Amino acid sequence: MCGIVGYVGARNCADVLVSALSKLEYRGYDSAGIAVFADGEIQIAKSKGRLADLSAKMEKEGKPEGHVGIGHTRWATHGEPTDVNSHPHRGGAYVTLVHNGIIENYKRLKEFLISEGRTFVSDTDTEVVAQLVDYHYHGDPLAAIADTMREVTGSFALGILFADFPNKIFAVRRGSPLIVGKGENESFIASDVPAILKYTKQYYLLEHDEIAVLTDKGTEFYDTRFVPIQKELLTADWDMDAAEKQGYEHFMLKEIHEQPESILRTVTPRIEDGLPSLAECGITPEKIKEFRNIYIVACGTAMHAGMVGKYVIEKLARVPVIVDIASEFRYREPLIGEGDLIIIISQSGETADSLEAMRLAKKLGAKTLAIVNAKGSSIAREADMLIYTHAGPEIAVASTKAYMVQIAVMYLFGFELALAKGKITEEECRRLTALLLETPGYIEKILARKDELHTIAESLVKAESLLYIGRGLDYALSMEGSLKLKEISYIHSEAYAAGELKHGTISLIYDGMPVIAVDTQKALHEKTVSNIKEVKARGAMTILVCGDSYAPEKDIADYCFRLPEIDDLLMPMMGVVPLQLIAYYASVMRGNDVDKPRNLAKSVTVE
Ligand code: M6R
Repeated sequence: MCGIVGYVGARNCADVLVSALSKLEYRGYDSAGIAVFADGEIQIAKSKGRLADLSAKMEKEGKPEGHVGIGHTRWATHGEPTDVNSHPHRGGAYVTLVHNGIIENYKRLKEFLISEGRTFVSDTDTEVVAQLVDYHYHGDPLAAIADTMREVTGSFALGILFADFPNKIFAVRRGSPLIVGKGENESFIASDVPAILKYTKQYYLLEHDEIAVLTDKGTEFYDTRFVPIQKELLTADWDMDAAEKQGYEHFMLKEIHEQPESILRTVTPRIEDGLPSLAECGITPEKIKEFRNIYIVACGTAMHAGMVGKYVIEKLARVPVIVDIASEFRYREPLIGEGDLIIIISQSGETADSLEAMRLAKKLGAKTLAIVNAKGSSIAREADMLIYTHAGPEIAVASTKAYMVQIAVMYLFGFELALAKGKITEEECRRLTALLLETPGYIEKILARKDELHTIAESLVKAESLLYIGRGLDYALSMEGSLKLKEISYIHSEAYAAGELKHGTISLIYDGMPVIAVDTQKALHEKTVSNIKEVKARGAMTILVCGDSYAPEKDIADYCFRLPEIDDLLMPMMGVVPLQLIAYYASVMRGNDVDKPRNLAKSVTVE
């Protein structure tokens, strides 16, 4: 989704803005632009395409030289990715702004502004809000912003320049995230912390309907009635290294390798005396054992982590769990209320569908537990209970280490709940917890065998379509493997419950079609093998991902990747790694932009 940056200070503003925007590239974008106070006016440079295209354009046509400005990477929603639709947008003589999010009532506002004699050059909702701020501007920026905030609906963040105030940046947010960085005689705005890490680790979180006024001396904050606000200065706990590639060809590969460390960072502080302890997250055995039903609501990969959570919680704690896609949950009048627990899983903590689902659940009286990676994000702040995953910054659009720690937290929660409900003994809980702590070591071993997965990826890279099949937890894992492959390699794939194939989908099998069979669950092994034989007999090229004690009959697998065996319940933590790497290598072999796949954004802040 769009990224906003802004800078006021002594450095060359255009350079800072482009560098900061480059740290937001992971969010996904299709055009970029900056606006800088230069030679007594606001000069804009913008271009469709990548930041490199913007830099090339500025090289050719001249870079605005100044010390105060705003910048933007746009992920097109209203209007195609063109130079004209790129941000920043001018709103008239005084206002120039950048915008992240959606102005829901822009059509009505546009009609009103046209009736007032204003004309528009772009198709964007952003230009409408720029014109509206300009319309309300009569010499007082705060009043113009506050009047605008009263009229617009939607979820958005704005970075604004007023021509009369060449030493200031104004910013405001409702819904979409925005931080304000504090450096030595310089200030920043950004959609996310990595954008400013090169310059400062100190930042403020702008809250709903708060206005920030930035100068090189610092930032003042106001509410929309102009009452000054004191805000807590936060310090980022990542450094630049965490947000850089550190020698890996892609962020995705780096993040896959960071999984063992991420698990340890997430799990170790939540274990006391060999047992899970989530008390610091507001979760106590007394509290959680009372919940009637559990819903897990999330999107994409986070939803797949929820699928693993469902198996774990239902198997160990014997509590019914419903997993819902957030965008579906909201609109089907969910049967939830007091006594229910809604677990929202999100890496970014800003996914609009998940955030709105959580708000709805709260409204209906359920308790909410957020499992979130991004500190201070909206979901983290609004949930009743919160477990942070400590994956560190995940930059690649394809989620890997975030998924790993989401399922690690699902295990901790499942173990604690099962113990609280007396469904497992303390001894069993200790055994499972100890095994969870062993997973990083096993994952290291899998990562050392990357070459085998490169060979497997070669075998399927030319396929038009493939299937992932599995049963139980392996089915949940297949969904994640399939999503990973399609989002970065652009090869169509589908995940199917292995036993369900014969009810229709098996007719898709053609000679040589790759089928990845995930078979890590001993209790289901024989059944899964039968299903593999069914596809093999119809000409499929089979790739088996299984435990290392299996001795599959030779003729059922063209390729076999064996996993270190741990308890069946924990096998998803092993099994996801080869699936991630197969997808990664397939994407590299197809020459795709692995970290920034087409049409996708890292943080999906629109519905
Ligand atoms: O930030 P979130 O975890 O809420 O994001 C949810 C999905 O958009 C995300 O997992 C998406 O499916 C990833 N690109 C998958 O790799």
